[in-house]
Amino acid sequence: MSEITSTLVTAPLAQIDTPLLAVAVAQGAVLPASLGELDRAAGGGLARAIASGDFKGKRDESLLLYPSGKAPPQRILLVGVGKSGEVTRSSIRRAAAVAAKRARALGATQLAFAVATEARNGLAAKDLGQVIVEGAGQGAWTFSELKAASDDPKPDLETVAIVCDAQEATQVAAGQTLGDGIAAGHRLARYLQMQPGNVCTPGYLADRAKQLATAYGFSLTVLDRAALQKEGMGALLAVAQGSVQEPRFIVLEYRGAADAAALALIGKGVTFDSGGISIKPAQNMEDMKFDMSGAAAVLGTFETLGRLKPKINVIGLIPSTENLPSGTAVKPGDVIKSHLGKTIEVINTDAEGRLILCDALSYVRRFKPAAVLDAATLTGAVVVALGHVAIGVMGNDEGLLAEVRDAGERAGERCWPLPLWDEYRELLKSDIADVKNSGGRGAGTIAGGWFLREFVNGFPWVHLDIAGTAYTDAEAPHQTKGPTAVGVRLFTEFILKRAGA
Ligand code: BES
Ligand code: MN
Ligand code: ZN
Repeated sequence: MSEITSTLVTAPLAQIDTPLLAVAVAQGAVLPASLGELDRAAGGGLARAIASGDFKGKRDESLLLYPSGKAPPQRILLVGVGKSGEVTRSSIRRAAAVAAKRARALGATQLAFAVATEARNGLAAKDLGQVIVEGAGQGAWTFSELKAASDDPKPDLETVAIVCDAQEATQVAAGQTLGDGIAAGHRLARYLQMQPGNVCTPGYLADRAKQLATAYGFSLTVLDRAALQKEGMGALLAVAQGSVQEPRFIVLEYRGAADAAALALIGKGVTFDSGGISIKPAQNMEDMKFDMSGAAAVLGTFETLGRLKPKINVIGLIPSTENLPSGTAVKPGDVIKSHLGKTIEVINTDAEGRLILCDALSYVRRFKPAAVLDAATLTGAVVVALGHVAIGVMGNDEGLLAEVRDAGERAGERCWPLPLWDEYRELLKSDIADVKNSGGRGAGTIAGGWFLREFVNGFPWVHLDIAGTAYTDAEAPHQTKGPTAVGVRLFTEFILKRAGA
């Protein structure tokens, strides 16, 4: 799917000539006054739809009307955002996504999107511009690259026009620029996530990092198997030793500020997780192509950084490998030596994510980072705890945790904390090595977080367990099933705030 072009329109709603005008409307029993003129021009259908109770304005609710009057919009789509007093950036982003998904289904290549004044709840013009563009990109997304003949031969959405007042156009445009940059990163992340494991290998991710580096002037370092051996990344190498695909350790550096300490983003890049010798059941194993979603979030964020160029330094690190069983694969009971020097008893070869991340957490020390965030599809247990709604977060610094959660709220990628209390450290005690990689059934997500913490030395750090949020297996009104690009928006919000943008 190609990029969506965003534009601004400052005309009154009743004068917008478009195949589809979507209007975000809050919950209520009567037509909002701000839509009176549009309704009269359209033949009164909006007021009748609301008065009849057919459209209540609830979240995700939508109603499509074909105006009978002389108003130029060919179609009008009312999109509910819930109670007006509860409207946030996320509600408007989501409504824009619902509208764009509908536009795609209708085959409308152009969409105009407005927020009824009554539904705005004090949101700043800049926020509106940003989240409308983000939502449109999210909702219109499709992936048909690998089909010879599309089973849905509708055209893609090409443009989204943000409808706003002339006095606010400058602020809306500032948000629109952010939204365009973030939507591009979001699209890249989803594209990478969607690629099957036979296409998206560690080498493929390195190639994509190279493309970004070339396009935007990032520095790039890629370590292959031989370089990893020299560097002493024994944990990453242990996971990789079962596969003929060579591992890669990818380091991207974005310099937007002179000599300030950099932020570091680490993304788990397991391009396919079979479980290894501790093999997973066949049911849904195909979903484990998504085990590189953390890596996709990092690469997507670098796409956004390349476009927005904030005044800050950011380093992206991606340990990448497959996790496969074979005659050379690491086995339960094996003891391996990590980059930090700590030894690890491998209890379960399916707890591979923490093994590759721990070497990245050790490697990152050389950059003396101001803060380190990692994103990883680390545990099935986080799905049990938080479902597909929230990212599980853990860390070693309360201030950074609060900052990350705040970024998640702004991004519409909400985080919920789990405790890394000392008691949980017991789960990882090994009889033979410094630490073991699995703590058994209970507190699985915390055990994963604690394992990583064992390798964090000298910087504030937050771990994001995105196993529940990286992809969905059900169609929703605001997004098609499949990858979500989770992390791109959160990382970007975090970085932009730190950059003072
Ligand atoms: N990639 C999986 C986690 C996962 C599960 C992601 C479901 C997305 C959906 C991870 O490598 C894994 O297998 N974790 C194990 C850890 C256990 C062996 C300690 C798990 O969650 O079962
Ligand atoms: Mn696994
Ligand atoms: Zn995994």
